[in-house]
Amino acid sequence: MRLTIDRDRLLQELERLATFSEVPAPSVTRIVFSREDLAARDYVTDLCVAADLTIRQDAVGNTFARWTGQDPNAAAVGTGSHIDAIPNAGRYDGTVGVLGGLEAIRALKQSAFRPKRSLDLIMFTSEEPTRFGIGCLGSRLLAGNLDASVDEKLKDKDGKTLRQVRMEAGFGGTLANVRLQSGRYSSFLELHIEQGTLLERGQTAIGVVTAIAAPASLRIWIGGEGGHAGGVPMPDRRDALCAAAEVVLAVESAAKSTAAVDTVATTGVCDVFPSAVNSIPSRVQLQIDIRDIDGDRRERVRSAIEEAAGNVSKRRGVETRIELINADAPGQCDPGIVDVAARACSTHNLPFKRMVSRAYHDSLFMSRVVPTGMIFIPCRGGISHHPDEYASPEAIGNGTLVLAEALAELAS
Ligand code: GLV
Ligand code: MN
Ligand code: MN
Repeated sequence: MRLTIDRDRLLQELERLATFSEVPAPSVTRIVFSREDLAARDYVTDLCVAADLTIRQDAVGNTFARWTGQDPNAAAVGTGSHIDAIPNAGRYDGTVGVLGGLEAIRALKQSAFRPKRSLDLIMFTSEEPTRFGIGCLGSRLLAGNLDASVDEKLKDKDGKTLRQVRMEAGFGGTLANVRLQSGRYSSFLELHIEQGTLLERGQTAIGVVTAIAAPASLRIWIGGEGGHAGGVPMPDRRDALCAAAEVVLAVESAAKSTAAVDTVATTGVCDVFPSAVNSIPSRVQLQIDIRDIDGDRRERVRSAIEEAAGNVSKRRGVETRIELINADAPGQCDPGIVDVAARACSTHNLPFKRMVSRAYHDSLFMSRVVPTGMIFIPCRGGISHHPDEYASPEAIGNGTLVLAEALAELAS
């Protein structure tokens, strides 16, 4: 099989996809079901149609583009990732896995290869938690990890339910039908940028992922007492933001206290009400993300944060309410798929390294129901979720080539 990746075409498509954004280049903001996200989905779907793939969409907007195999009834092979992007992100997170997956399928189609199993390119809905507070919405539903009741429970910051938002975007039907029927896929393999520095530092072309760290997410509401910034003396205050500041520092020290490089915790959202310079903050909402490759250790960090919030509440006389949004178990990649990916690297003389994913991905949830693997490529300085995110043409080409080679083996 002679595989030719059309790298220039792929890079042009990545560039074009980056233009579907609420903010100017090099930043990308593409929130799920926004006008930009819907236009970007159309763009990718049109490319898939042009490649003669058959499109199916489910009720949450997960999109499947199929190259039907010689045995259409055999369990299929999946690849893909997401195209939604957090505020002020870069252009490669997720998109390399979607457009790289498409290019891998096109390269296989152009070669003499004919798959026995069908090959599905999957564009997952809302891998990023920006709009509904929970990451991997589409893949969680596919894996049966979320109840269909989230349709009414999950709301965006304007109070619109997931159901309203997806219906307006044109995705009807019940969420109960999103769950994958067993036997639909025999394997799933996602291409992604590393979002870390191990590959770049080691001058390693490819990372073959063996396990995926898992997040827990919390919302903490803190209620104090507002008032005039001049009028209320310091001893009389119950300032919600000062209390929140203590909680934020407790998040940092709880993560550091494990001394493990794989434990990380971040307070990424701090919404202050009423947010006026001459008004004492009366309410704050924090959103906290805690991760580890060791689920028990992560839960100990979560308990420490909750306990610290309770102590701050007592000491400062503020109210706190904690909502656990998710606490997921880490995922394991399938050893057989790890070997397939490693072999694909060797076939093309590309140095590779087995490694853990510290970011989460749709693969975390696919791995619950389908034997799953991931292929990482280096990204400059490990920078991601940032406009400076960059993966070189060579890295993108290598990752796509390895993906194509591995998909061929998995679909044979
Ligand atoms: C994925 O976007 C993550 O936050 O790991
Ligand atoms: Mn991301
Ligand atoms: Mn991603």
